[in-house]
Amino acid sequence: MAHSKYTILTYGCQMNESDSQRMGAQLEALGSEKTNVLDEADIILLNTCCVRESAENKIYGKIGEIKHLKQRNHELIFGIVGCMAQKEGDALFKRAPHIDFVLGTNNIHELNNIITDIRLSHHHMTKLAPADGGTPEEVAPPTGNSLSVWVPIMYGCNNFCTYCIVPYVRGREHSRPMQAILDEVEKYSQDGVKEITLLGQNVNSYGKDSADGDFADLLYNLDKITGLERIRYMTSHPRDLNDKVIETIKNSKHICTHFHLPVQYGSNRILKAMNRGYTVESYQQLVQKIRAAIPDCSLTTDLIVGFPGETDDDFQQMLSFLKQMRYDAAYTFLYSKRSGTPAASMENQVDDIVKKKRLAKLMAVQNEISLQINETFINKTVQVMVEGPSRTDASVYTGRTSTNKLILWQKCGTEKAGDILNVKITHPQTWILKGEAQYA
Ligand code: SAH
Ligand code: SF4
Ligand code: F3S
Repeated sequence: MAHSKYTILTYGCQMNESDSQRMGAQLEALGSEKTNVLDEADIILLNTCCVRESAENKIYGKIGEIKHLKQRNHELIFGIVGCMAQKEGDALFKRAPHIDFVLGTNNIHELNNIITDIRLSHHHMTKLAPADGGTPEEVAPPTGNSLSVWVPIMYGCNNFCTYCIVPYVRGREHSRPMQAILDEVEKYSQDGVKEITLLGQNVNSYGKDSADGDFADLLYNLDKITGLERIRYMTSHPRDLNDKVIETIKNSKHICTHFHLPVQYGSNRILKAMNRGYTVESYQQLVQKIRAAIPDCSLTTDLIVGFPGETDDDFQQMLSFLKQMRYDAAYTFLYSKRSGTPAASMENQVDDIVKKKRLAKLMAVQNEISLQINETFINKTVQVMVEGPSRTDASVYTGRTSTNKLILWQKCGTEKAGDILNVKITHPQTWILKGEAQYA
């Protein structure tokens, strides 16, 4: 594929980001070069998400936009990959005949073959392994000199929360062999990577389907790899986070002290209807245990408002729950009906206007808490790993604390991406904290 250029537009979660990196590596192995300019590309992939209707609508809009590029450039190959590809399959061709191929979530290793076949045949093609057909084949990890990389440790989800489409499009849980992960991360550390983020829909289930050891064992082994500064992971399911994991993190050198523990809701009635497998009380006990073991940790969560049957009383319980928990941050979502999931056919779907009002209230309550927590950092010095210049101002640098707080400062020294630096906080805000670098 000499002179070929590719663009991958990625929607959805970090698992998709990771798949996109791995697909990019495959295309580069064939001699295609990455471009961010859509007009220049002769291969365009949309890596798609279907977790909420809003994500799907955005993606259908983008699919429409690409039609005129196809009309101008007959050599352009346009493929849909990821979760919407898995969910919709061939139906996508009917909706948008300018799509050349659809590749499922367990088929990304077949990307180069399908592109070659299309160049020869000029026909639409679909490759879809069943979502629960098991094992996506290992794809060569991307190389390059990035500071931070995604590392999938398990695929799929067995939890079947009643609102969620992910188990249907990503299939059953399947863990990667421990040694394959350790070898991959070892190689990254030798290449100068400083931060890894382990990925899975429920990382605490890691190893349940193999004899290689569990999530705590994996963390323990990764912590010993030299050169790595920071080890992150997502997502933890509150039902499955056990004492061994907490102890391992507490005793580790490099595992970050940030707990993203999606609670989804703050009333037992709704948690039960969601099939989350824990109660408000057991969740609170877990958080108490974490905060007792690791007092400086940060805690973030995901919340859904407007789940079917949600009453004003449930919502009030949710607000007081938030005030008790005092999360550093919360990602808040409007419940979105996903056909085929149990919640989609539940009675008492909540009216859109009510949902939106509740969401606004929820965000206002949480934002105030986030700001209050960040304000406690004023005049304190935090340690960050430097990420580099901010998007809008090259003289302002950004970095993150181990607790995943985003810190900004005016660059006055020689710091570069990957360095560890102390920053004294001067202007805390809701989502970011501004400060002054403390040069030694
Ligand atoms: N496996 C992870 C996250 C998966 S999806 C976990 O269980 O935490 C990321 C987030 O999207 C979820 O945490 C949930 O808050 C939200 N989400 C999933 N399905 C949704 C739906 N149908 N409507 C609105 N939000 C949804
Ligand atoms: Fe969806 Fe629940 Fe699985 Fe997360 S744990 S991916 S919310 S089914
Ligand atoms: Fe979306 Fe698929 Fe991730 S549905 S949230 S991209 S697993």
